[in-house]
Amino acid sequence: MRVWVPLDAAARALGADEIAAGLAGEFDVTRNGTRGMIWLEPLVEVERDGVRHGYGPVAPEDVPALAEAIRSGADHPLALGPVDDLPWMKAQKRLTFARVGVIDPLSLEEYQAHGGLLGLRRAIEAGPQAIVDEVTESGLRGRGGAGFPTGIKWKTVAGAPGPRKYIVCNADEGDSGSFADRMLMEGDPLTLIEGMAIAGIATGATQGYVYIRSEYPDAIRIMDAAIVAARQAGVLGASVLGSGHAYDMEVRVGAGAYVCGEETSLLNSLEGRRGTVRAKPPIPALEGFLGRPTVVNNVISLASVPWIMAHGGAAYAALGIGRSKGTIPIQIAGNVRHGGLFEAAFGMSLGEIVNEIGGGTASGRPVKAVQVGGPLGAYIPPSEFDVPFGYEELAGREGLLGHAGITVFDDSADMLKLARFAMEFCAVESCGKCTPCRIGSVRGVETIDRIAAGDVDAIPILTDLCNTMKWGSLCALGGFAPFPVMSALTHFPDDFSGRGMPRK
Ligand code: NAI
Ligand code: SF4
Repeated sequence: MRVWVPLDAAARALGADEIAAGLAGEFDVTRNGTRGMIWLEPLVEVERDGVRHGYGPVAPEDVPALAEAIRSGADHPLALGPVDDLPWMKAQKRLTFARVGVIDPLSLEEYQAHGGLLGLRRAIEAGPQAIVDEVTESGLRGRGGAGFPTGIKWKTVAGAPGPRKYIVCNADEGDSGSFADRMLMEGDPLTLIEGMAIAGIATGATQGYVYIRSEYPDAIRIMDAAIVAARQAGVLGASVLGSGHAYDMEVRVGAGAYVCGEETSLLNSLEGRRGTVRAKPPIPALEGFLGRPTVVNNVISLASVPWIMAHGGAAYAALGIGRSKGTIPIQIAGNVRHGGLFEAAFGMSLGEIVNEIGGGTASGRPVKAVQVGGPLGAYIPPSEFDVPFGYEELAGREGLLGHAGITVFDDSADMLKLARFAMEFCAVESCGKCTPCRIGSVRGVETIDRIAAGDVDAIPILTDLCNTMKWGSLCALGGFAPFPVMSALTHFPDDFSGRGMPRK
């Protein structure tokens, strides 16, 4: 009997390896990615009559009784029924994550049986110009956070003169509360490889790099193994699937600096230099890795392309709202009942995501705020929960979509402390290249400490400082740190004033 036990890092942290070992003696165990329902991990699946039934969350000590239930088909208290029928799964539109949790991540056979390589084959048939047109028509925008149109970026690289071009995948997923890149790489690495090979054909690039943060050892190991498998199958190498277009790639590991998620720092790091930000222009599309034309795209942007090439840009663009086309893997974390990864078309309201999909707080207390877009994202109060999940829609409320991570806080959260954390984070992670960020973040921590001590006269100073950092910083780290601070100050003024000291 076939049984699946996730190899995803979250499931492993919760004992999945022990569970897999305990079941392996008797059953045919496959290690899959996660289905994204982290509160049910480790989620063990069993195939009966072609339908996958789930059990979760399973603990290692549950294995003997679970094995008996699997063997006999008897009831078990952790039985969840068919996994695809669970409300969390049914409510999604899984395009990019369609295979994650379903297949063995390193099996090319299973990958192809579930639609893998269809996009690459269509791309080879279509040729570079038609690929760029298709991706442009899809409306796909940079999923790392900036939302720049992917088709336009690829067109710039395709048209740039250069003896050699590169595809660089940014897998330095540093945002706290974000894990979509990791889950994709651990659960379906071949989709990323396929997307990068398509990008190579579209732009004329012959070499690619996946820059993965060192904190993701599982993703590094699985990507490395998937690259070897892809080479053996001709998906990478001298003649990508017989097209005659050479394209190969390798994994490079970061060293733990948040700022290396910024594309120019990442390129410096990739070149073996110190990870500091380069001034733009020149943009990497024209002068990137080793000064040559380079596509720098996030994992999810690249992994979305195989589906677009297989089903057409128009089908992708038919989903979503406004200028936010297609689907977005939303990562729900923090103080929330149902945390995990939920892929949906753009346009759900934030309230639906937090209260209906996420089920509200884990503590059962009222939601005070959610931070959208990582540690540099704005805090949004429940009064703004009608905002649709989209790039412009969130920007219109002084927020940002970022990498689509949502962190939930209940009413015990002290927003001043969270604002201080944002400034401290910026001070610790600053690359030091520009003054507003390097000095401003340190002054920001000090100013918030003054406010915490009751000095309300420091509030306008904090506002001024935030404006200086927002408009004067060279990159998004210093430029966006004011978002959590200002949103906390705007929406939760009581957490800042009245902390004890009389006004001077
Ligand atoms: P950006 O707006 O400067 O650039 C966006 C992208 O478009 C870059 O790749 C840039 O090179 C490219 N581009 C701009 N003009 C172009 C043109 N004419 N042709 C071709 N390409 C062009 O934004 P940046 O600084 O790259 O990213 C900031 C974002 O990063 C923020 O919105 C934030 O949400 C996100 N972020 C994500 C994190 C994560 O862990 N995923 C962490 C921190 C920030
Ligand atoms: Fe470096 Fe901060 Fe300036 Fe970015 S904003 S270049 S991280 S000092």
